[in-house]
Amino acid sequence: MAGPLDSKVALITGAAAGIGRAAALAFSRAGARVLLADVEATGGEATAGLVRAAGGEADFLRADVTQADQVAALVQAAVSRYGRLDCAFNNAGIGGMEAPTHEFPEAEFRRVIEVNLIGVWLCMKYEIAQMLRQGGGAIVNTSSVLGLGGWALTPAYNAAKHGVLGLTRTGAVEYSGRGIRVNAICPGWINTAMAVSELSRPELAEWIIRQHPIGRVGEPEEIAAVAVWLCSDAASFVTGAALAADGGYTAH
Ligand code: NAI
Repeated sequence: MAGPLDSKVALITGAAAGIGRAAALAFSRAGARVLLADVEATGGEATAGLVRAAGGEADFLRADVTQADQVAALVQAAVSRYGRLDCAFNNAGIGGMEAPTHEFPEAEFRRVIEVNLIGVWLCMKYEIAQMLRQGGGAIVNTSSVLGLGGWALTPAYNAAKHGVLGLTRTGAVEYSGRGIRVNAICPGWINTAMAVSELSRPELAEWIIRQHPIGRVGEPEEIAAVAVWLCSDAASFVTGAALAADGGYTAH
């Protein structure tokens, strides 16, 4: 049976764990050949192994999304190994520390912005250049419900995730007329390592779950499925969207 991403080549960052790992498997099941990237090589290689074990085609490259030369090399690797780059899921991110705005350390603020915002921009920069050369593509950035509203104690994370929506909308305005769709997913709380410190505190976890009318947090596969759909031709008129996949968190 034909998959929605048959014959497509997809780059996925943050693929060593969590949403990125689920996306690697989902993009592959949908028919794409996947190039996986992460700073964490053991997990990244393991994800590539899982994709191959399931019958898919995957390569892992260690890359830090804050380093322009490494991001450029990633896009180049997609082209030299697979001939092109059709889909990109710019998903790598960090949570950073928790502190109120007036006590938040400057170095930590800059680190979170560097990974979560500048990292996404660098990925877009090199992906778009390649997609323009080949005449089209689809980009999906991982923002957050914290890109749509405030949340105490994570000012840098929230600022970066709001910024990702700015990059997404600007990309859509600049490139949709040239065949490149750019969208963002805004996940609610997802059951991954990033959320484990909050979700393992029973009272806090209960409160967080109450913010999601669906009555639970999400699973990484539920975000991966949205990313596949946004990259597929089924979403051919969707660009510049900040798509909440959040169990109703933002419906309040
Ligand atoms: P995770 O911690 O399981 O995965 C994030 C991955 O990004 C890790 O494998 C990590 O090594 C990688 N990474 C970090 N810095 C990197 C860098 N400089 N270069 C390359 N790779 C790097 O967390 P999760 O939940 O899968 O996060 C994926 C994305 O989803 C992130 O952008 C996160 O902000 C976002 N998100 C997560 C939510 C959650 O509740 N888990 C909610 C909303 C958004």
